[in-house]
Amino acid sequence: RTRLIVASLAALKAAGTPITMVTAYDFPSARVAEEAGVDVVLVGDSAATTVLGHDSTVPVGMAEMLMLAAAVRRGLRTPLLVADLPFGSYERSDDLAVDNAQRFLKEAGADAVKLERGGTSVARARALVAAGIPVMGHVGLTPQTAGQLGGYKAQGRTASAAARIAEEALALQEAGCFAVVLEAIPAAVTERLMPYLRIPVIGIGAGPATDGQVLVFHDLLGLLQGHTPRFVRRYAELREPMVRAVARYAADVRAGEFPGPEHTYGMPATELTAFEK
Ligand code: KIV
Ligand code: NA
Repeated sequence: RTRLIVASLAALKAAGTPITMVTAYDFPSARVAEEAGVDVVLVGDSAATTVLGHDSTVPVGMAEMLMLAAAVRRGLRTPLLVADLPFGSYERSDDLAVDNAQRFLKEAGADAVKLERGGTSVARARALVAAGIPVMGHVGLTPQTAGQLGGYKAQGRTASAAARIAEEALALQEAGCFAVVLEAIPAAVTERLMPYLRIPVIGIGAGPATDGQVLVFHDLLGLLQGHTPRFVRRYAELREPMVRAVARYAADVRAGEFPGPEHTYGMPATELTAFEK
């Protein structure tokens, strides 16, 4: 496979080939995404919850996101690498947004950035595109502002709410976004919206009508305990095997059964005798 570029997503959409996207936050997860052959890897600010243990995406900052994105970059060759602009890194002004988005491209090697919401984010997206930075939009359930949305729940379930999401997605398209994520909205709303969106649409909890799907790495692999959103399909349950493996290791150490002879280094007998003197 050849390395994907931003234009590859439009080509996939034109060909009717579903776009596959997954998050990654470090070198091993990037290697997994690479070898699995997905099209797009997102260094999501979901890292705040999946790897940093926060209970929302609000606390994660530029320094953390840059470090994670750079690690993912080192593990990727083929997929397009998109990095989330964290909460607080772009809302205040076009200048702030451009400065921070450039850092993801220059310092972490990302191919593009993603930002959330319509509203002021439409102007931010336009400014980033004008500065030469590819931008992915994200509307519907936008976790950075979940507080304003009444929590982590499906959006656009009334006519007026659906109309607002439609306007936001279209405004982001007009602003020059190369793709948009729709999160947690009724499948019927997505379906009505698709004919108006010329750019690739990636869904998460937005039904099957989108041009592609995205899932969070830890969700699809079953790496975390606790609530799983409705839109997640778990393709593995890796947490339990991990706990069992570490518990077996600890038990082996306590029982004196690890390390074994095959894990230890030898030394020439003459050297050992000389050392003993
Ligand atoms: O941060 C994230 O993981 C995301 C995806 C769910 C789209 O924004
Ligand atoms: Na995100």
